[in-house]
Amino acid sequence: MYNPEILRFARFFIAFSGCLPPLKESSFGVFTFRKRRGKSFAFVEGEKGKRERAPCNRLGNYGIIKPTTTIYDRSRKKENGELKVTLSAPCHFGLESVLSSEIRRMGGENVQVTDGRVTFDGDENLIARSNIGLRTAERVQLVLGRFEARSFEELFQGVRKIPFEDYIGRKDAFPVKSGWALKSQLHSIPDCQSIIKKAIVTRLQEAYGVHWFEESGPTCAIEFSIHHDQVMISLDTTGVGLHKRGYRRSSVIAPIKETLAAGIIDIAHVYPDSQLYDPFCGSGTLLIEAAMHAMRIAPGLRRRFSAEKWSWLPQKVWQQERHRAFDLIQRDATFHAYGSDIDLEAVELAQHNAKQAGVDARIDVVQRDIKDFLIPKEKGVVICNPPYGERLLDMKAAQEIYRTMGKVFGQGFPHRYYVISPDMEFERSFGRKADKRRKLYNGMIPCQLYMYFKG
Ligand SMILES: C[S@@+](CC[C@H](N)C(=O)[O-])C[C@H]1O[C@@H](n2cnc3c(N)ncnc32)[C@H](O)[C@@H]1O
Repeated sequence: MYNPEILRFARFFIAFSGCLPPLKESSFGVFTFRKRRGKSFAFVEGEKGKRERAPCNRLGNYGIIKPTTTIYDRSRKKENGELKVTLSAPCHFGLESVLSSEIRRMGGENVQVTDGRVTFDGDENLIARSNIGLRTAERVQLVLGRFEARSFEELFQGVRKIPFEDYIGRKDAFPVKSGWALKSQLHSIPDCQSIIKKAIVTRLQEAYGVHWFEESGPTCAIEFSIHHDQVMISLDTTGVGLHKRGYRRSSVIAPIKETLAAGIIDIAHVYPDSQLYDPFCGSGTLLIEAAMHAMRIAPGLRRRFSAEKWSWLPQKVWQQERHRAFDLIQRDATFHAYGSDIDLEAVELAQHNAKQAGVDARIDVVQRDIKDFLIPKEKGVVICNPPYGERLLDMKAAQEIYRTMGKVFGQGFPHRYYVISPDMEFERSFGRKADKRRKLYNGMIPCQLYMYFKG
């Protein structure tokens, strides 16, 4: 590695000499920059520590994929009066492609997918649009900086470089809420949390010229991740997780998470004119998410988000995006869903939740055992989440239910069927091999989505 002082000086010199944009630094001793005539070069540490100059498209040859230090400075990022932001949205493992399509549809740029997470760029309206409109994201984080750290000192210095005063007001609360570290030198989460907090306090003390922060204002929760020694520091824009749409009353029924249900609905191609059936509807999550999807009702329209209280994010952004979401609702959609469940309490709960979600006119729910499920004549799609052995019944009882499903569903092809189950033997009990399977996680439980398309 090169002497960090020399590297810092080089970056400073080039950034301020006016001939080149600021450099980006990577953990491998690489500096990349774009020359005025459009050709990119990087200085890399070659064999035996020799310094080499290489076009950027050769970086892959060195095992270097991307520069690793990026600090977002709000005051410098205004382009034509627009604030450019980088956002990151975690999701259920297995739903990354569904989420990335949602993000592209709502105007996200430079969409990048990693395990359980999608990162994307956009303007400040996208902070509101993604919170209000994303169905499969767990939350939306505003990325403030990315850098490499192998020691607490590097972590402290990296965090301290981030212009937190651009985002956190003098009175705002800034808890370092959650974080994780994987395959990295730094792994103690509580220690990382306190180093990060200390670095932010130091930065804000210098920026505001005060020693004490009362933290009585709006919350700007800090989140961090460290993967292969690459640190990402972000602000949580969401608050209570996005799966909390605001329609579901809590109960003893083991419900599927709203974000996972929305992902399955997307995979199953539910349209504004679809008919949907869920014979194990429980609290009605799949029915409600399907109705909202079909009618293009944004899942976050009925709730508030942390970032709504931030002084630097104009209120008009939230108003514009709520109006936009209202305008997109397809009130003339002919979608209808039919749910049933053996448990009367579940039936009442599903009806209550559908009303809360404002889609009760599109959903009928009745009490019915699966053995009496009559496959309707109209072509439709069956999506369900039957009981799991380990959670509700013992395995044998669950498999008996799968056998019954095989019989009653078999009468009604050519409907399409989508069944999510953690039981790897599901197909054997059901009596048919799925046309397609997809691995999904229901919380920590690995499941399969068994898909049947053909009669
Ligand atoms: C895993 S839960 C479904 C949860 C639902 N997706 C939700 O989000 O609330 C399974 C449901 O199957 C119902 N059930 C169990 N045995 C049944 C049977 N023989 N016929 C119909 N429903 C049954 C249970 O009452 C329970 O509500």
